[in-house]
Amino acid sequence: MAEKPTKGLADVVAASTALSDIDGRAGRLFYRGYDIHELAGNATFEEVAHLLQRGAPPTRAELEAYSAELVAGRELGALAEANIDEVAASQSPMEALRTLISLGSADDPDKNSNEPDANLRKAARLTAQQAVLVGRYHAARTGAEAPTPDPAQGTAANLLLQITGRQPSPREVEIFDTCLVLHADHTMNASTFAARVCAATLSDMHSAVVAAIGTLKGPLHGGANEQVMRTLEGLDPAHVAQSTRDRLARGEKIMGFGHRVYKTEDPRATHLRRMSRELAEASGDDRYYRMSHEMEEVVLAEKGLRPNVDFYAATVYHYLGIPTDLFTPVFSVSRMAGWTAHVIEQHADNRLIRPDSEYIGERDQKWVPIAERG
Ligand code: ACO
Repeated sequence: MAEKPTKGLADVVAASTALSDIDGRAGRLFYRGYDIHELAGNATFEEVAHLLQRGAPPTRAELEAYSAELVAGRELGALAEANIDEVAASQSPMEALRTLISLGSADDPDKNSNEPDANLRKAARLTAQQAVLVGRYHAARTGAEAPTPDPAQGTAANLLLQITGRQPSPREVEIFDTCLVLHADHTMNASTFAARVCAATLSDMHSAVVAAIGTLKGPLHGGANEQVMRTLEGLDPAHVAQSTRDRLARGEKIMGFGHRVYKTEDPRATHLRRMSRELAEASGDDRYYRMSHEMEEVVLAEKGLRPNVDFYAATVYHYLGIPTDLFTPVFSVSRMAGWTAHVIEQHADNRLIRPDSEYIGERDQKWVPIAERG
């Protein structure tokens, strides 16, 4: 008899990758061998995107060339440009990104090629465009004029400006840049797996990242950060502990806690908690940080579960002035660097991903024609 399948593919090794690695017991995360604690606060998002997509940290000259590619890549294709207002009026942010990235493929000069150089160019363009799309989507739905991206500024500064409409402080840019670094890649998470399955059919990079965007949208994956904020907003600050205990007693899941791989603290949460506290104190209203901390203590005591990347990301984004429904899109801007790097890696050494399934249905059924079925 075939071996029983692992529900949710837990512990199944689905691909080989040189991009990122997790030690779930020790709570460690590495991008191409660099500990996330080394990168957070030291590397920019552009350096990390280059590291992931192009295999090594950039030299100064390489970073300039890569940044120039990103700036050029901020130009949206004609079809996406023509439809952005209508899409923003009728679709939620993650749906809109899925649609607009798909439309963008029509005008991509490398759309018909999976060649390594074409994939590198597309990876840079998609990384640049995802950030622009989030800002443009937000402007379109609010009727505001989207600030023109500043070619002298990186992704973090431009994206914050586009979303909030105000010039962020240098410290806010640093914190947001660190958020982008922390979210850039994470081994075989659900959206990356979706991207790799698509790419492994030798489909193109745009199709693969569209699959990934749809997967990240779900509340058990990237959508959790938005749910965390909605939970905090709906809670009476005086009853955080009791309400959390009650929810756990009812068997409810608390968004932003638990992880398939980490058996201890998610190293990204360590940075996000610290940044959330800093921003809360600077804002003069640390209510949501304190409520988060109280929830964390209860969930740990009651269930032994720790916060994942989404828990403190929610309050960090909130204090930075990002609307709650853009939390997951902001996550996707960062993860675009990882998804595209995985597509490059998959295409470089491809084999169709086609697992098996265990059949648990009826057998030896006799077909009854519809006339006799009533
Ligand atoms: N709140 C309460 N209980 C939880 C939580 C939670 N957040 N997470 C897991 N549990 C409990 C489950 O109810 C289950 O209990 P049981 O054995 O008594 O039934 C047990 O812990 C195992 O949980 P599973 O859902 O089976 O664990 P799995 O590895 O499949 O799921 C996941 C991991 C999806 C992250 C889960 O912890 C969860 O749903 N968390 C909330 C959603 C979330 O924060 N997602 C973001 C993850 S990070 C990311 O994707 C970027």
